[in-house]
Amino acid sequence: MTRIKHNMAVWLAMAVLLPATSAFGADANKRTGGDPVAGKVKAQICQGCHGVDGNSANDLIPKLAGQYEVYIAKQMRNYLAGTRSHELMNGMAAPLSDHDVDDISAYFAAQPVMKGNGSAPNETGKKIYLKGNISEMVFTCVYCHGEGGKGLARDTGMYPVVGGQHKAYLLKQLVDFRKDDRLNSPNVIMNRTLKALSDAELEALADYMSVQ
Ligand code: HEC
Ligand code: HEC
Repeated sequence: MTRIKHNMAVWLAMAVLLPATSAFGADANKRTGGDPVAGKVKAQICQGCHGVDGNSANDLIPKLAGQYEVYIAKQMRNYLAGTRSHELMNGMAAPLSDHDVDDISAYFAAQPVMKGNGSAPNETGKKIYLKGNISEMVFTCVYCHGEGGKGLARDTGMYPVVGGQHKAYLLKQLVDFRKDDRLNSPNVIMNRTLKALSDAELEALADYMSVQ
């Protein structure tokens, strides 16, 4: 029975993402072609908040260290287009050229990947992360974000690194997705995935991912 549910979860996750892949466009499946050396200089305007190597000190400012290049570039373009809203970041994206975005993304992606403090995992968060809850249509996180949240398919930027990210930032994203304040995931997959989860479950998930 468990096995059947498990297979069903995989199948469902795939079914949800297949149309997403085509909707996302062919460009999603390649690197940005950015230059990390040029990006290092251009990234100076970001480093006061995101840290020199992409490890920010503030819990509400996401780490970018080792985050996927295509994912970073996509977020910048979403902030620029207004399909992802944040007062500060919409403004930060505005003056950048396409080239700047690619170079800066390549710079942060080239840094050693973000890491949590490795403390004991939150058991509730771990269970949802690894198993989901198919009767509630909660797709299993690990199939898309990989073990320990270290991401999947680096070159596509589709399945970002979430392991080792700041807890407060993660929790804000989960809450934003659940209440449809953030709508930029392909086919609103994240919104659909989180709908049935309670505040306590989102908090447990953020806790679990942050220590990885
Ligand atoms: C004044 C502080 C500040 C500066 C400067 C800043 N950021 Fe941000 N950045 C933030 C905050 C806060 C968020 C979280 C926004 C949210 O919750 O949506 C963020 C989010 C992001 C994200 C989304 C990350 C994710 O995991 O989805 C990216 C990418 C990003 N910033 C890149 C940049 C780049 C590139 C620059 C420089 C051009 C920059 N930021 C400058 C504060 C800043
Ligand atoms: C079917 C694939 C899929 C599943 C299952 C999935 N995600 Fe995601 N997730 C994505 C994609 C794609 C994005 C990138 C959205 C974008 O492009 O802005 C994302 C984004 C996120 C982000 C935002 C990262 C950031 O840096 O802002 C978090 C946090 C997250 N997912 C957590 C989870 C959790 C927790 C679960 C399980 C309850 C989960 N995801 C299940 C595909 C998935």
